[in-house]
Amino acid sequence: MKKTVIVTGGAGFIGSNFIYLLLEERPEWKIICIDALTYAANIHTLNKAIENPNFKFYKEDIRNRDGIFKIFEIEKPDIVVNFAAESHVDRSIENPGIFLETNILGTQVMMDACRKYGVERFHQVGTDEVYGDLPLDRPDLFFTEETPIHTSSPYSTSKASADLLALAYYRTYGLPVTVSRCSNNYGPYQFPEKLIPLMINNAIKDKTLPVYGQGLNVRDWLYVKDHCLGILAVLERGKTGEVYNLGGHNEKANIEIVKIILKELGKPESLISYVADRKGHDLRYAIDPAKAEMELGWHPTTMFTDGIKQTIRWYQNNMVWMEECTSGDYVNYYERMYERRINQ
Ligand code: NAD
Ligand code: DAU
Repeated sequence: MKKTVIVTGGAGFIGSNFIYLLLEERPEWKIICIDALTYAANIHTLNKAIENPNFKFYKEDIRNRDGIFKIFEIEKPDIVVNFAAESHVDRSIENPGIFLETNILGTQVMMDACRKYGVERFHQVGTDEVYGDLPLDRPDLFFTEETPIHTSSPYSTSKASADLLALAYYRTYGLPVTVSRCSNNYGPYQFPEKLIPLMINNAIKDKTLPVYGQGLNVRDWLYVKDHCLGILAVLERGKTGEVYNLGGHNEKANIEIVKIILKELGKPESLISYVADRKGHDLRYAIDPAKAEMELGWHPTTMFTDGIKQTIRWYQNNMVWMEECTSGDYVNYYERMYERRINQ
């Protein structure tokens, strides 16, 4: 059946991958992207989507109530998927305010528009970081949907607040809400402030690879297309009022990831530089995806060994895209964030 879907944050990493998935898998659907085009967006990411008559782009800020309501008035969406967020933990430590505004108040604006105009689903894209972290010496422990919210950074706190607000709108106003909480994503179009694209970019350019602390923190990596398929499964088979964890049981220490990238690119480990740790650095994330697997029949399909190779190739073949992201303000960001760490 034909649906109109609003995707916020669609010029960013996961939102753009989700748009391409929908254009391919649900060709009869109309996809409306709303994105404020912050530093984290690259409009060229959507070049191919813009050629598709079923796709439309609005440059708008999810905090702008009037602007968002006007788009709902025109487009009358059936489904809204809210990816738009400030998403980088290090930036949230430097400047928390914008995280609270976009991630919490922006989500509220989107849900108020959904209430006013009526939708069949509002989906909030959440993160496993809302569960805090797990100890490194307890590999038997995993995050389930019942794990208490216990956040560490301003970023994860803002995301937890948005999840709770979404669930409150479900209970209080009956808004048909679902929430997914995913582990670390990797794949094409990720902004090179995040571990994997940053390390690939630096290694290609023979720059040092800044590993926080001793590189022993563990993240649970999922190929971005599998995350997007998980969200589609929640939209089509999930129950409103429910939270679904998405992850692929693929835990790796940061240093392992960095060494895999260097090996794949044929670069020496002497490029690694251990730098000052992130404040409040979460030790380990590990998702238990059993609920999504059993209730939605969702399973990740891309093995890490294949996904990481495809991802490295993608960045090697898209260095123009990388240069678009890393010119201008990125240079200031990099110097500010990393000179400080090296000099600590
Ligand atoms: P990203 O930073 O790559 O993209 C965010 C997008 O949102 C950008 O295009 C940006 O321009 C847009 N945006 C930011 N503020 C906005 C505003 N006020 N109004 C409209 N648009 C705005 O982020 P991402 O990694 O693609 O993450 C997308 C979502 O998924 C986020 O909600 C994030 O918390 C969540 N998430 C990310 C991961 C991950 O590993 N990257 C894992 C789990 C969940
Ligand atoms: O778990 C899901 C979360 O994953 C998402 O909600 C966030 O939006 C996303 O950014 C990501 O958060 P992390 O903090 O885990 O990702 P990041 O890529 O920033 O860092 C991954 C790990 O690598 C973390 O332990 C810090 C470390 N790191 C990161 C950078 C950028 C380094 O050692 N050096 C670096 O330069």
